[in-house]
Amino acid sequence: MFCIDFHTVKSCLRSIFKMKIAASSGLLRIFLTSILTLVCNAQHMSRNSMFSLGTTRHISEIFIGRCYDYPNKYNIPGYEEKDCKQLWTYFSSAFQYKDPCEFSEKDYQMFIEAASIKTPENQTLFWSGSYVISHEYAETSRRYFTLEDILIGYVVNNLTWCGQKKAPGIDYDTCPQTCGKDADSAFWGKASSSFAAAASGEVTLVLNGSNPNRPAYDKNSYFGRFELPALNKSKVHNINILLIHGLDTTYSETCTTGSVLKLQSDIKRNGLNYTCTDDPKAIVHLLCVEDPNARECQLINRLMGIAHSSF
Ligand SMILES: *[C@@H]1O[C@H](CO)[C@@H](O)[C@H](O)[C@H]1NC(C)=O
Ligand SMILES: *[C@@H]1O[C@H](CO)[C@@H](O)[C@H](O)[C@H]1NC(C)=O
Ligand SMILES: *[C@@H]1O[C@H](CO)[C@@H](O)[C@H](O)[C@H]1NC(C)=O
Ligand SMILES: *[C@@H]1O[C@H](CO)[C@@H](O)[C@H](O)[C@H]1NC(C)=O
Ligand SMILES: *[C@@H]1O[C@H](CO)[C@@H](O)[C@H](O)[C@H]1NC(C)=O
Repeated sequence: MFCIDFHTVKSCLRSIFKMKIAASSGLLRIFLTSILTLVCNAQHMSRNSMFSLGTTRHISEIFIGRCYDYPNKYNIPGYEEKDCKQLWTYFSSAFQYKDPCEFSEKDYQMFIEAASIKTPENQTLFWSGSYVISHEYAETSRRYFTLEDILIGYVVNNLTWCGQKKAPGIDYDTCPQTCGKDADSAFWGKASSSFAAAASGEVTLVLNGSNPNRPAYDKNSYFGRFELPALNKSKVHNINILLIHGLDTTYSETCTTGSVLKLQSDIKRNGLNYTCTDDPKAIVHLLCVEDPNARECQLINRLMGIAHSSF
């Protein structure tokens, strides 16, 4: 506990030393020393683990490795091999050797332009509050492409990064929490709008209609702020909204109630058309794979039972 606010293990150890001097009784001294050592060790370990709040360790190797591996994982017609080291240079120069809270969307422009790829017609999928099911449904681009399936999102998905003025220009220990959210949206905002601007044909939007803490459509979500305004009216003919509800939950919002109505008027205001479906079968079936005993999956179970008993 004592060491939570210390920036480095070194300052943590210094504090042990001071505490040792201050502790008058020998027994208390031994006790304090061992407690502090334990806490500092735990702190040191957590900094080295994947839960570190600093930049992800080996970020440049992960980035460059994922970039080279991308065409093996995704089969994109007409994909031209990228210069992955050059992409890392563009990306890292947006934040390296800069104050961690100093950034702008413009800094990522070069990377985003150089890494952008053409997403196939009718295969762009946006999601909000439904990460897991949306990615299962997209099936790593076999059905749809999410932002995390295009090169720009893929190379940095799940990574953390921030800069610092002193060498090596990247802070691997801590990334400030106070400007962290804005730093995220400087990158992900720019990436989202570029992804949306490239979409064509029918686009799909998967929303969570049964989150008690968040409306299905939030104007301040990435979709509301960056994606919807960036869709190109002359290329996108329709937004196919899929409203998903958890199994065994009581519906909170449907295609004709709540925040979805607001979404529909925002779509119209942007000059676009939409269709909306509550719980499309393909997605309910995916949810049933995870939770076959849920009420919504009983019919399938019964049919399976009949098929089974006829053997
Ligand atoms: C995209 O969808 C539209 C209508 O839904 C269809 O006419 C068109 O052929 C589709 N494009 C491709 C490449 O499948
Ligand atoms: C909707 O949100 C709730 C609450 O965060 C979550 O438990 C549930 O898994 C989400 N549903 C889908 C389909 O993503
Ligand atoms: C990111 O995290 C999600 C959820 O834990 C995981 O399914 C996905 O494979 C990760 N992506 C990469 C590129 O590591
Ligand atoms: C929208 O798409 C059309 C047709 O592809 C293109 O000519 C136009 O430049 C695009 N608009 C924007 C704002 O990118
Ligand atoms: C929306 O639908 C109307 C009527 O079907 C059509 O005239 C219009 O061109 C569509 N708008 C877009 C952006 O596709």
